[in-house]
Amino acid sequence: MKKIKLLKSVSLFWDLSEKELGYISEKMISRHYEAGQLILLEESDGEQCFFVTEGSVKITRLSKEGREVILAILNDGDFFGEMSLLDGESRSANVIALEDTEVLTLNRNDFLLVIKDYPQIAIQLLKVMAHRLRKSDHQIASLSLSDAEKRIALCILRIADEQGIIQKGNVRIAKAPIQQDIANMSGTSRETVSRALKILENEGYLKRNGRELIIQNYTKFVKEFDS
Ligand code: CMP
Repeated sequence: MKKIKLLKSVSLFWDLSEKELGYISEKMISRHYEAGQLILLEESDGEQCFFVTEGSVKITRLSKEGREVILAILNDGDFFGEMSLLDGESRSANVIALEDTEVLTLNRNDFLLVIKDYPQIAIQLLKVMAHRLRKSDHQIASLSLSDAEKRIALCILRIADEQGIIQKGNVRIAKAPIQQDIANMSGTSRETVSRALKILENEGYLKRNGRELIIQNYTKFVKEFDS
C-alpha cells in the first residue's frame, strides 16, 4: 500500500488506476541513498529504471579536463535510468544523490513489459524524453554564450522552471543548488557564480536568503536574459 502511495507522486503513472498502480508497485523495490552517494556510474550496464519518490539527484558527466558537468537535476516525481533499458547501451551519465533520496526501482524486463502493457505510460515517457531533449538543446545553445552572467541567469531560469513556485509575478526557488553545482550546470566557476549572483541581486533581479532564491519579476527576467 505504501508503495502505491509513493508511486502516485511519479508523473509517469498519473493516468493509472489504483489497481494498475498496485500491480506495478508489486514489481518495485524501494531503495535509499545518502546525500552524495553515487547511484549510477556512466558506462556501466543498465539493469533498472529508478523513480524518485523523495529527494533529488544530479545527472553528470566528466569533461575532457575532468570537470563535472551537470546535465540536469531531477526531483521527486521524476525518473531516470530509462535510456539504457530502452536502447540496450551502457549508462549515458552518472547519477548522484544531492540529498537523502528515496527511489523505487523496476528491473529491465518489468519496465519493458509495463511500457508494452500500458500505452499511456509509453506516451507519457515520450513526452518527458522530448521535454528533456528540448532542455538539453537549450542548454547547449546557452553554453555557447560568451557572457558568463547570462549563462548563469539562464541556468537560474532552468532551475526555476523545474522547481520554482510562482508568487505574485515572482518565482521562488526554495532550495537552489549550491554555487558549485550552478557553476557545473552553466560551464563556469564557483567564483563567477558568486559574483554573478551578487550583480543580479544588486540590479534587483534576484533576492537571496541562504539557499532560497527569488526571481523578482519573472517576466522581466525572461525578457532580459532569454530573448
Ligand atoms: P541511463 O542512460 O540509463 O542512465 C543515466 C540516466 O541519466 C539516463 O538513463 C537518463 O535517465 C538520465 N539522463 C541522461 N541525460 C539526461 C538529460 N540530459 N536530462 C535528464 N536526464 C538525463
